[in-house]
Amino acid sequence: MNRKPLVAGNWKMNMTVADARHLVSQMVPGLQSKSGVDKVICPPHTALLAVSSLLEGTDISLGAQNLFWEPSGAFTGEISPAMVAEFCDYVILGHSERRAYFGETDKDVNRKVQAAFAHDLTPIVCIGETLEEYEADRTYDVVFRQAKLGLDGIQFAGQESDGSNLVIAYEPIWCIGTGRAATPTDANEVIANVIRPALGELFGNEIAQRIRVLYGGSVTGDNARDFFQQPEIDGALVGGASLKVADYTQITLAAVQ
Ligand code: PGA
Repeated sequence: MNRKPLVAGNWKMNMTVADARHLVSQMVPGLQSKSGVDKVICPPHTALLAVSSLLEGTDISLGAQNLFWEPSGAFTGEISPAMVAEFCDYVILGHSERRAYFGETDKDVNRKVQAAFAHDLTPIVCIGETLEEYEADRTYDVVFRQAKLGLDGIQFAGQESDGSNLVIAYEPIWCIGTGRAATPTDANEVIANVIRPALGELFGNEIAQRIRVLYGGSVTGDNARDFFQQPEIDGALVGGASLKVADYTQITLAAVQ
């Protein structure tokens, strides 16, 4: 199956508008026009407007790190799907930090995925096990449950009904920000044995084969290529290294080499 690789940078809660402008203007020359890979930058909400104008006319896409599923109303501090869609093509949903620190459940993630689809946003849905679950050999159960509940009832319709407008990021939580990445073969096996079959049960095999599944967790310029050589790994969701111009450029280029 020929899935186009995708590399997304999750800046998390970093970068003022001034910092974001500086970083993006340094990054664009190295990333732009590198064909064969979809490139996505996900700054904090406050920097979306500034970054969107810097990315205008480039082939680099913008993503948000979260949204709330309600269309509008009394939800202090939240951002609606339409507000995100004003600037972005992508949105990260269900990141483990949202689940851990803000109590997001699989049901919440599901509502957010539905809302993203309703606004033509491509969700990057994060799933992955904790260290405790990993050590107790529960990875397959946890990841399967997160995939099935998070994507329950999702319908592919309209122009992009082939699955290419849904992205999954497999991020073992014990690998995020720890400098301890999973082994590429282990990550590939989780995708091959659990995630792709769960997508098959949900959407049928043909669509499941078209959905891109990224690896995330301590991806660097040095290890990215080993992940991308795995047949089931279609790119990366990058945290810390997405704030470093040389590293992030190297990761993006590794996806097409
Ligand atoms: P990391 O974060 O690359 O810093 O490990 C990945 C993520 O949280 O998406």
